[in-house]
Amino acid sequence: MARTPVRTAKGRPLASTRWLQRQLNDPYVARAKREGYRARSVYKLAEIDARFHLLKPGRRVADLGAAPGSWSQYAAQRGCRVIAVDLLPMTPIPDVAVVQGDFLNPDTQREIVTRLAGPVDLVLSDMAAPATGTRAVDRLRAEALGEAVLAFAAEVLAPGGACLVKLVRGAEARLQDAARPLFRGTRLLRPAATRSDSSEIFLLALDRRPPD
Ligand SMILES: C[S@@+](CC[C@H](N)C(=O)[O-])C[C@H]1O[C@@H](n2cnc3c(N)ncnc32)[C@H](O)[C@@H]1O
Repeated sequence: MARTPVRTAKGRPLASTRWLQRQLNDPYVARAKREGYRARSVYKLAEIDARFHLLKPGRRVADLGAAPGSWSQYAAQRGCRVIAVDLLPMTPIPDVAVVQGDFLNPDTQREIVTRLAGPVDLVLSDMAAPATGTRAVDRLRAEALGEAVLAFAAEVLAPGGACLVKLVRGAEARLQDAARPLFRGTRLLRPAATRSDSSEIFLLALDRRPPD
């Protein structure tokens, strides 16, 4: 693919010029645009789904950190019943219920549980804690967020259900240990659409054990 050059405009910081250059030359960005998805991250979920068959018609899915909405779009297209949660407002998606709020706020979690009105089959989390640039702090924040997602998943998942959670490298061992008593299988995944310079890694926890 021919590269699109970006000139550094007067007043535009170098970092945003680099971001723009990368966006314009990213094949997943182009493909998402062509295929009508709101974000390139849809291809991470699509790759994981192709391997593990998570999204099937009628399955109930909680999509945490859902905006702008490509994972919810993808799940809804596969016939899943989706509830999408984000701090940010989301442009509506047909057949997707939206809760706007901070997932870490207990009131938001109560609202999600009320709206779910029953167990779910899959919890997805593409949330990321804001990066501080200090690796140890970012890892601790990612661990705390991941643990909150696992605790929520343990509460709302039906036996046999699954949870896919985005982490940063360094947080995965602790989260995998936390997931083992709750799920029969765990995998660590870096889909092809994850940028090579990104520290993100996904924990997929499969087959929720029945609660004690
Ligand atoms: C990488 S984006 C998700 C992209 C999405 N999976 C998609 O495919 O369109 C991460 C999202 O997580 C949201 N987020 C981060 N922390 C959150 C929190 N505590 N509660 C709710 N949403 C959160 C951000 O607002 C952001 O929209």
